[in-house]
Parts: sequence; structure tokens; C-alpha cells
Amino acid sequence: MPKINRSLETKPGRQKAFLVGVDIKSTQHQVKGQHLSLEASLEELALLCDTAGLEVVGQMTQALESPNVSSYIGPGKVKELVTWKESLGFDVVVFDDELSPRHQRELEEQLGDKVSVLDRTGLILDIFAQHARTSEGALQVELAQYEYRLPRLTRQWTHLARQAGGGTGRSGNAGVGLRGPGEKQLEIDRRRIREVISGLKDDLEKVRAQRATHRKARKRSDTPVVAIVGYTNAGKSTFLNAITKSDVLAEDKLFATLDPTTRKVRLPHGHDTLFTDTVGFIQKLPTQLVASFRATLEEITEADALLHVVDATHPHALEQFETVMETLASLGAGDKPMVIALNKTDKLPGGLENPAAAVAALGLSGALSDGIATSALKRSNFDVLLAEIEAALFERMIPIRVTLPYKSGDLMSLFRRSGLIELEIPEEKTITLAGRIPGRLLEAFLPFRVTE
Ligand code: GTP
Repeated sequence: MPKINRSLETKPGRQKAFLVGVDIKSTQHQVKGQHLSLEASLEELALLCDTAGLEVVGQMTQALESPNVSSYIGPGKVKELVTWKESLGFDVVVFDDELSPRHQRELEEQLGDKVSVLDRTGLILDIFAQHARTSEGALQVELAQYEYRLPRLTRQWTHLARQAGGGTGRSGNAGVGLRGPGEKQLEIDRRRIREVISGLKDDLEKVRAQRATHRKARKRSDTPVVAIVGYTNAGKSTFLNAITKSDVLAEDKLFATLDPTTRKVRLPHGHDTLFTDTVGFIQKLPTQLVASFRATLEEITEADALLHVVDATHPHALEQFETVMETLASLGAGDKPMVIALNKTDKLPGGLENPAAAVAALGLSGALSDGIATSALKRSNFDVLLAEIEAALFERMIPIRVTLPYKSGDLMSLFRRSGLIELEIPEEKTITLAGRIPGRLLEAFLPFRVTE
């Protein structure tokens, strides 16, 4: 499979970036999933730039009723941008919203050869590309990148397209200001990219099928699965490490984790459970990514319960929480049993001695007030958190009474392992067990069901 150049926009060495944010007034043009104010969103964009290796040298905002048809920002603002370019000498302009291919082309024309125009989506895709560690993660990002780039393929991009399609390897410096050979070549490149996209989709289908087989095997062994979800940088990987004392990569970078990692943990009442780390969410998560990451995101939709990690110390904790909840709902996982971990309490005054009081002092409202104060780093309040997870996993259990012949040892141990036994009556040839089992096991036990 030919490899796409992984870091097209952000060259090694600190390139200078200039940020542009637009406050769109008309609801018709507002971006879905926008929870942060323009200012907070630009702060986050600056963090994303830093993660991608860009140095932010300035920013500009504009309030508009609706985006300008050709250049997104108004013509006066484009002129201002050109003036900033001359004084600050930046290499990249990063827009906080997704630009149409037309906007991107027009802005690049106006800004000249030396400056590339990027949007939040392109930036996030680039960060994902830098962080994909497994071949599955890489496949998913690659597909998202091609899908994103295909409509944006202009002459400027043909050089890259040929590299991508022809498998001539990577070049961190390709991309900016290169003029390609013309329309005919462009069409050939587009066709090649479509072919690559279709190949990637086939490969990803195989990955999904493999995952589905693994999940089936897990279901048979009936170890419940808890997916750790949360906004990027909330502390999901640190949690997985802390719960399992393993060493999953945890970095103070946005999207350090792309590839799901699964670990087995024994909960306080002895139930074995699989915890799986998932990709971090962010506001305005590119739609291409959500589509391409279907295989990974299915870990969430198929999980038995969710552990939602929130950075309680973040000034926009509530907005981040809402963004994650919205993304979960769009994936069809909005109504799963969920435990909210209010993380990083060690950073709060008195947070180590009394995490709950420290979080209460923050005055978090709504669903967040039900969260459990904890610190993944210091493993504080973990006993309460794990007990809560166990309760969430088993609250959906169904009461049942079965009489099993002793030869059905496998069912007996399944009940013991995955259910809660409240009564046990051993007899000569059979044993009667009463208690509760997870709904998904009902089918296996139905033939042995008895009434009192
Ligand atoms: P993504 O991969 O971006 O989705 O991030 P993540 O949610 O997996 O976050 P990760 O575990 O990588 O943690 C992000 C940063 O927060 C790291 O620098 C962690 O050390 C830090 N962190 C995580 N939990 C805690 C905590 O309880 N207290 C403090 N002080 N820092 C924490």
C-alpha cells in the first residue's frame, strides 16, 4: 500500500503559525458541536498547533453574519492577513473552522506561494498521523487524510498526490508552494487517490472483521468491557496505567493515544473486567475521522459500560464533558451505563487529602456533580471509583434462578464469574443457583430456569 506523506502541513523544525477564528452569527452557518467560546476555541487551537510542532506567532478574529463565499473571512481581513504575513513572516495560517476547498484555494492564492492554509480538521488529521502507532491506527488516519484531501487537490498538491499514489516515500518538506504539471496530471492523481481510498477501505473492513471476532471471543468468555472515554488530554491513558499498573503511553500532548489498548482488571467483588483506552474526543472532531475510526470507535459502542474521564481542573471542564457526551450520542453510545471520574484533583487545593471536598469547591454543575473525585496520577479514591464501575456493570443484571446438573460445570463457573450469586442449594445431582446475571447471558441459562 503506498504511504501518504505523514506530515504534509507541519514540517519538522518549528514552523510559524498564525491563527484565524471567526464568530459566525447566523445559526444556519454555525458549526455543530461548538461548545467553546471563540476565545477558548482559539486557545485550544493554539494547543493543537503546539502538539503538531507549530509555533503560534499571532491570531486574528472576525465576527461575521455568515462566511464569505470565496475567502471565508471578508476581503478586508484577507488584506490584513497579508500585512501580518509581511511583518510576522509566518509559514502557515490555521483557521479554527473547516474551510471548503474553494476557501482554501482562494486564501492560498491571496497569501502567495510561501504560506499554506490549513484548517482545524487538517491540523487534527496531521496530529493523528504523527501519533498513530499501530498499523490499524495508521490505516484509519491515512484513509481520513485521503478523504479530506481529495476534494482539495489543486495543482499545488499534485506533487504530493504523485508521491502518495506512486509510493515514492515521505518528504516532510514537500507541499508548500510546489506547482504541479497541470490539469491532466491532476485528474490522474485524483483517480489514483480514489484507488488508494478504496484499497484502504478494504483493508479496514478486514480490521473490523478481526475486531468483531475478538469481541465475540470476549463475549463468549464473558469478561465485561469498560471503555475509557473522555476529552483529549483528560487522563484516560494515565487511568488505564493506574488501574492496571501497566505502562500505556501517557503524554501531555493532545491525542497521545490513538490505538485502543485493552487490559484486564479485577474489580473489588472479584469480577474480572477488561478496560480499554480509546481515542480522545475534541470539539469539532473531523467527520472524516469519525468515519475512518469506525473500527476503533466500535470498542465504545460495544462496551458494557463507559468510564468517562474529565479533567476537573480544566477551565472548560463542562464544555469538554458536553462535547464528549454529544459525540457518544452520535455514535449511538449515549445511553450506556457510565461512571464519571473527575480527574486531576491532586492539582486542586486540598485535593490530595479530600478529593471530594476539593471538587465540590469547584462548584461543577449538572451531570458533573455526580462524578467521583479522583486523581489517576495519585490513584486517589480508586476503591470508590472501581466499586462504582462494578455497580454500573452489574446494575443491568437480570434476576434468575436456575437448576444446573453438575456436569454443566462451565455454566456454574460462568454464573460465579459473571453474575452475582445470592443463594446456592446443592443437591445430589444438581445445584440450584439464584441471583443475577448480565442480560447477554440470559440465553445460555434459559433452558435451566426454574421458578421458586
Ligand atoms: P489523549 O491521548 O490525548 O486522548 O489523552 P489522555 O486522555 O489519554 O491523557 P493522558 O493520560 O495522556 O494524560 C494527559 C496528561 O495529563 C499527562 O501529562 C498526564 O500525566 C496528566 N494527568 C493525567 N491524570 C492526571 C492526574 O490525575 N493528575 C495530574 N496532575 N495530571 C494528570
